[in-house]
Amino acid sequence: MNLRSKLPSVGTTIFTVMSKLASDVGAINLSQGFPDFECDPALVDAVARHMREGRNQYAPMQGVPALRQAIAAKYAALYGAVYDPDSEITVTSGGTEAIFDAVAAVVHPGDEVIVFEPCYDSYVPAIDVSGGRAVVISLRYPDYAVPWDEVRAAVTPRTRMIMLNSPHNPTATILGRSDMAELTRIVDGTDIAILSDEVYEHIIFDLARHESLARYEPLRARSFIVGSFGKTFHVTGWKIGCVAAPAALTAEFRKVHQFVTFSANTPIQHALAEFLAQGRGYPELSAFYERKRDLFLGLIAGSRWKPLRSRGTYFQLLDYSAITGEADMDFALRLTKEHGVASIPTSAFLYNAPAPPVLRFCFAKKDETLEAAASRLRDL
Ligand SMILES: Cc1ncc(COP(=O)(O)O)c(C=O)c1O
Repeated sequence: MNLRSKLPSVGTTIFTVMSKLASDVGAINLSQGFPDFECDPALVDAVARHMREGRNQYAPMQGVPALRQAIAAKYAALYGAVYDPDSEITVTSGGTEAIFDAVAAVVHPGDEVIVFEPCYDSYVPAIDVSGGRAVVISLRYPDYAVPWDEVRAAVTPRTRMIMLNSPHNPTATILGRSDMAELTRIVDGTDIAILSDEVYEHIIFDLARHESLARYEPLRARSFIVGSFGKTFHVTGWKIGCVAAPAALTAEFRKVHQFVTFSANTPIQHALAEFLAQGRGYPELSAFYERKRDLFLGLIAGSRWKPLRSRGTYFQLLDYSAITGEADMDFALRLTKEHGVASIPTSAFLYNAPAPPVLRFCFAKKDETLEAAASRLRDL
């Protein structure tokens, strides 16, 4: 059979590669972004209770009403944005499904989608599968600011969508008010939709304010805003996310969602609805991870690793140019095999720009894991 791949350049993701290597060689795994500690046991109890009480069949396609209501209430309380839980909030199987569905819902063959590299690895494949063309704009090391002039120049009549991510994986930068103003000017008067990946919205440091696109009505009116409960409640394996979008966008989004997964896991949605409605988990998350960031930075202080500023997410980029001139992938592999610490090279998130001498480390780990990893890093 002659099989023509729709994604010929896609292989196994770097996260799978590095996590497997870490486990094969017994390295400390600071590569893939997941906590090595448990979530709140009350959340597990709540899921179990809902299972025992028989909430084990298909959830409504758009999500359990209580969870959609709690999500809408959170957007109103945090960002002053009014979303109708019935027609503007959809629960998905993680942020990944939400991103895929949003792109599939609006991108037609030949449409252009502006993405910023380094970028999360699912964006460009989602565009490719829909027959769109990713227009990749580089965020440049070391400040990784959005070059808005380049964005303005890249917009054409075929531009269908701009994809944003703040707080940003892997650079740990955040977008500010001036970015929102630039973006507003660029999309004004166009038919460009925005996908704003805000899965790390509750992990933002140094008292910065999360500039959700939901805060800015002209942007909110054309945006799919993506959230993920995995990041917020330390349960990445549960794969529950959500999308907030105006009714017309949501209607198209749901046409795709209902044939991709139909609906997300029922008992977990009920448990998350309880936690969210009670305001549990997320208000203290930034302080929780800021302490871990500071612990990690304190532990490697004085070493040859040079930290870039991490303003959000649970990632820290470290510049290794004082240690070696190796390419980031080569060094990441050697660091894992010879020094027992796994990380992610940013080249895995890049399409055009040359990879700078930095590796991404995940600090969503127990203090003792960070201490053990840092002691190995300090030896280099
Ligand atoms: C920037 C970004 N977007 C989306 C996702 C996917 O979220 P989920 O695990 O809920 O599918 C991740 C997960 O690492 C991410 O880092």
